[in-house]
Amino acid sequence: SPFHPLLQALPKCEHHMHIEGALSPDLLFDLASRNDVSLPGNDESFASPSALHNRYKRFTSLDDFLQYYYIGMSVLINESDFEDLAWDYFQKAASGGLAHAELFFDPQAHSGRGVGVSTVVRGFDAARRRAEEELGVSSLLTPCFLRHLPAEDSLSAFRDPVLQQYFASGSLIGVGLDSSEADNPPKLWRAIFEEAGKLGLKKTAHAGEEGPPEYVSEALEELQVDRIDHGVTLARNPTIMKEVARKGVMLSLCPKSNVVLRCVQNIQQVPIRTYLDAGVNFSINSDDPAYFGGYILDNFCEVHEAFDLSLEEWTHICKTAIEGSWCGRARKDELL
Ligand code: ADE
Ligand code: ZN
Repeated sequence: SPFHPLLQALPKCEHHMHIEGALSPDLLFDLASRNDVSLPGNDESFASPSALHNRYKRFTSLDDFLQYYYIGMSVLINESDFEDLAWDYFQKAASGGLAHAELFFDPQAHSGRGVGVSTVVRGFDAARRRAEEELGVSSLLTPCFLRHLPAEDSLSAFRDPVLQQYFASGSLIGVGLDSSEADNPPKLWRAIFEEAGKLGLKKTAHAGEEGPPEYVSEALEELQVDRIDHGVTLARNPTIMKEVARKGVMLSLCPKSNVVLRCVQNIQQVPIRTYLDAGVNFSINSDDPAYFGGYILDNFCEVHEAFDLSLEEWTHICKTAIEGSWCGRARKDELL
């Protein structure tokens, strides 16, 4: 498309990218052999990187994907593994015009395997510094809590003194909530969000991905979140949608993710036009790019093909994403 160079050149911010979701099948196999980690022998999908890549084209739901996502993480052991993973992401996303990234990671998925938060954060921080220096890409880091585990597990993970020290130093900017959404209502994690609020941290939660639009209002009211991750089902409830528009809360939409995980049938079903018309703020994000077949620019391109947005609309989307970012005013002004 003649529009491609324009999309490429737009200053892109993403707010919904799980670093563990940037683990490509190639890197997964490299790290498995480097660390002598054995992959499941009873699943033919782990026969080779290309077999795994093919399996990723046939996810049936969020939980079907999450099963592969958590197995994949088992190869991440050392600080350098986390650095290599994040650096691979930064290079690929920067080639598509990424300017600023707000990254999620899942501390409980690592501490549960005996890999401590400091190993993870130090590895990511090394890659983040390099991305800033060599690629001009700024970034922020947010731990997410896993809603397939009991809320008490999340609360003790949140209170981990090592994690708390990273909040205090500003290495970690906020808290998020992710993993299986169905039947895991946001309000069960209220204690974490209350404590996070008292610490002055940013707050966000996955809501309205597979779950109902009511989980979006519940996250806003019970958890007092500053942002909603996904919110693709919000368009089904015009009352809640109007309230989100009125509040100016930003959704971090993930169009390719929604198609691959079958939250929608195709990109056209992502309510991009509905949200633009209703004045709902959103950014466009890659979620788990190595699993969903594309980085941020691929998401921009597919949305453009489906909705034929004007340059004014793209400029509006990018400005909304910059203003909705958690970086300081000075960085926002550079990006605008
Ligand atoms: N963890 C990683 N990607 C996720 C997604 N799309 N939804 C919920 N949890 C996730
Ligand atoms: Zn996500």
